[in-house]
Amino acid sequence: MKLTDEEQRMLDGQYGKAVSMAMSILTKLGQIYGAEEMMPITQVHIDSTFFQLLGDAGLEFVARLVHCDTEFCVPTSLNPSARDIKRWQEFRVPPDFAEKSKRLEQAYLRMGANPTWTCAPYQNGMIPRFGQQIAWAESNAIAFANSVIGARTARYGDFADICAAVTGRVPKFSLHIPQNRSGEILLRLQTSDLIDFGDDSIYPLIGYIAGSFAQERIPVIEGIPNTVSSDNLKALSAAAASSGAVDLFHILGVTPEASTYEDAFQGKEPTQIIDIGEEELLTARRNLSTVKEGKVDLVVIGCPHASFPEVKQLNQLLGGKKIARGVELWVQTNRVVYHWLKEAGLLESLSFSGVKVTTDTCNLNWPRNIWDNWGFRLLVTNSGKWAHYAPGLTGLQVIFGNIQKCVEAALKGEIREG
Ligand code: F3S
Repeated sequence: MKLTDEEQRMLDGQYGKAVSMAMSILTKLGQIYGAEEMMPITQVHIDSTFFQLLGDAGLEFVARLVHCDTEFCVPTSLNPSARDIKRWQEFRVPPDFAEKSKRLEQAYLRMGANPTWTCAPYQNGMIPRFGQQIAWAESNAIAFANSVIGARTARYGDFADICAAVTGRVPKFSLHIPQNRSGEILLRLQTSDLIDFGDDSIYPLIGYIAGSFAQERIPVIEGIPNTVSSDNLKALSAAAASSGAVDLFHILGVTPEASTYEDAFQGKEPTQIIDIGEEELLTARRNLSTVKEGKVDLVVIGCPHASFPEVKQLNQLLGGKKIARGVELWVQTNRVVYHWLKEAGLLESLSFSGVKVTTDTCNLNWPRNIWDNWGFRLLVTNSGKWAHYAPGLTGLQVIFGNIQKCVEAALKGEIREG
């Protein structure tokens, strides 16, 4: 692999052990993917923040970097931690687990990361620009940054994200290269009276279908109105990156690299054309639920982390009513949105209704024993990503529904088919 003099000095240890180790890992990654050279990046989003996924070995890796006085050399944001940093006790997180999470959190802050603790950094504080070369981890954020913003990142996993922040370099490969960003398959939404773009739950369903068909290919979607919101595209990105390994999608007339059909496919023809109608949407909705009805224990909103308008809508739908006894309603968001909710007086109203707003974390990634402590059996969510992963990760039954259905389930304590 061809390295610049500066990169060679990094690898040779002239900037210390940590930089040398990080450079060595990244050059090996580049060799695996056939990259010929390294390239600079100007922003990193680290996903290696869930202690339980990294384990003690991961904690040791990060501690070793801190021991070498390592500092991140580009602006670096952080995915959610394994615990709500302020309210972990309220969520029944065991103290030993919280302590290890804290050590990981503090290590990143020592190295200069921005304490965003969110999986939607693109909505608050760390927003890349079109064409910017970045190194992001966290699948929904990768898909959103590439597709909706037009920034350029490959799919970085745990540890590679840290190494990118330490060196400010990544291999030149994958979606960093413009020619690798052309659409490959075409999904045509068949408009009909039954397809309701005013119902936000259509977007995770479209994403889920796109990911299922595309797998590792780049889908181009036709038929989404250009009034689609950032929150809708967030939900679509998360679902597409869950049912498939979608790191980039284009939406004709909506996303920045797809203003025309020719742009989206870079002058080539799609290798496959798939029509999506009501039947496919209904099938996707069925597939995202493990049961059709039942007594509800938990309702989860905010995967990816909820924006201010999303929480405001939830509060409006609750209309000052209290959720049913025995039901938990959790909203996951970041501290910036939390602050705005407080300033706007919405926290009080949510709390009156029995809603728990949690920041800095993602409960889906909890170890199984915390879920067992809660004793839940059935959860309801409006997130395609949460619904996709929850049965395997939490052991719970899941029903996917729109936000109205989620609120109804929380207020009644039960959900019926329909
Ligand atoms: Fe974020 Fe957790 Fe969903 S990290 S995207 S809330 S699974």
